[in-house]
Amino acid sequence: MTDQTPSVLEIKDLHVDVAQTDENAEPIHILKGVNLTVRSGETHAIMGPNGSGKSTLSYAVAGHPKYQVTSGSITLDGEDVLEMSVDERARAGLFLAMQYPVEVPGVSMSNFLRTAATAVRGEAPKLRHWVKEVKGAMTDLDIDPAFGERSVNEGFSGGEKKRHEILQLGLLHPKIAILDETDSGLDVDALRVVSEGVNRYKETDHGGILLITHYTRILRYIHPEFVHVFVDGRIVESGGPELADELEEKGYVRFQQAAAQGA
Ligand SMILES: Nc1ncnc2c1ncn2[C@@H]1O[C@H](COP(=O)(O)OP(=O)(O)OP(=O)(O)O)[C@@H](O)[C@H]1O
Ligand SMILES: [Mg+2]
Repeated sequence: MTDQTPSVLEIKDLHVDVAQTDENAEPIHILKGVNLTVRSGETHAIMGPNGSGKSTLSYAVAGHPKYQVTSGSITLDGEDVLEMSVDERARAGLFLAMQYPVEVPGVSMSNFLRTAATAVRGEAPKLRHWVKEVKGAMTDLDIDPAFGERSVNEGFSGGEKKRHEILQLGLLHPKIAILDETDSGLDVDALRVVSEGVNRYKETDHGGILLITHYTRILRYIHPEFVHVFVDGRIVESGGPELADELEEKGYVRFQQAAAQGA
């Protein structure tokens, strides 16, 4: 069912401004030349201090209108992502689990999921199969089936929202998934369940994962082959899992100093 052709997301020298709420104010320059390549089956972790631009990167890839790409490129399998609408990006196989998921009152989870699946697959999944599919995915993630009838994210606890994002991941089978702080606010059991969902996605869909996180705790369950340190709008160092251990132990000081000297 899932398209297993290997995919590659390429981000080259990406510069992004964010529009300020006050329209007369100059936009703020946040991303200052991000280079990153994520292939199917690879897991990349991005770690960096608050306000360094990690969520900005995920919004820019997803196509949030507030985030203006001023130069550089984003391509998925050679196709220009920046030319695509938000829907087209989803259809092309990009998925973003946001740091702060939005609430959609009046729209039930089950309708929302079916609409999303229809958009991504190009046709509505057959109802009988769909109900089974959703049930199975919910069981995998220890989600109470009653959640299907609740409005999207409305009144969900932080951990419940995160579980639902991983539910979407399991149903939509994207090519590349960006998970922005999927681990924040999860209790130990939820962390394990969510991590298993992410690992299942990696194994069964051979998906590429960009995991933005502050904690090495999640990296006990999800094993990134690549770790990137993000400081002041760009990746300042890349390495393997050992880099995450160094960050846990010593923090970002070394990287922040180097970035400040280079600036
Ligand atoms: N819509 C916006 N309006 C004004 N400033 C913004 C907006 N979006 C982002 N910024 C600013 O851009 C900078 C980077 O924000 P971003 O959310 O990308 O950081 P982050 O690395 O994800 O941080 P955290 O680890 O706290 O989630 C911050 O200084 C933030 O205040
Ligand atoms: Mg963030």
